Amino acid sequence: MDKLTNNYYSHKAKSYCNELKGVPSFFVQHLCLMLKKDCSVFDYGSGCGNDLAYLMNRGFLAYGYEPVPMLAKQSMLMHPELAGRICTSITELPEQAPHKFDAVLCSAVLQHVEEHNLTNCIDTLKGLLHSQGKLCISVPYDTEIINQRDFKNRLFIIREPHTYVQLFAVHGFSLTSQEIYEDTYGRPHRKWMSFIFDCTRTRH
Ligand SMILES: C[S@@+](CC[C@H](N)C(=O)[O-])C[C@H]1O[C@@H](n2cnc3c(N)ncnc32)[C@H](O)[C@@H]1O
Repeated sequence: MDKLTNNYYSHKAKSYCNELKGVPSFFVQHLCLMLKKDCSVFDYGSGCGNDLAYLMNRGFLAYGYEPVPMLAKQSMLMHPELAGRICTSITELPEQAPHKFDAVLCSAVLQHVEEHNLTNCIDTLKGLLHSQGKLCISVPYDTEIINQRDFKNRLFIIREPHTYVQLFAVHGFSLTSQEIYEDTYGRPHRKWMSFIFDCTRTRH
């Protein structure tokens, strides 16, 4: 993970989570309506745990990964029901978690992933999915960023939507839906592009 991005989430874990007030994203609210009842979902980069708690409280078998321990800790303070549901190392999933999931959510994470780590990251997402699973991505869209850092010094790479579609196609994913969402927290100048992909073949 990018060091300065890690520093930000680590040092600001409490204020960052307080700012988001436990509210789940518009994207996850939409996903809950379209995913099969009771299916398993993995939240990659679960942050404050708002989406993960929402999924869990709606009856999904939900687990997550959060690489910043302070953020994982803060998310469990805000949502005590997440205890035992979040891992901080992707090679050590929570004890009760399945090894493969019906859906993987990766929301507001990929803008923080460096170019040279993207392939690795997509392989990891794919490795968490059942062969017919759904990959649900959201990334910032239409956001002006200069020199790939935001004012909080987080790595913030804005890629064109077609770049993501092509990138995931190379990894055997086909696009089933693409939508634009307003920012859940009403932050100015921020929109989100969501993609839902079906996993259709193994990577060559
Ligand atoms: C903007 S927050 C989004 C959190 C949550 N998914 C949500 O939608 O509220 C970005 C998250 O990405 C995580 N992250 C950043 N770089 C990452 C990486 N290389 N791999 C996995 N997670 C990463 C951060 O720790 C943080 O939890």
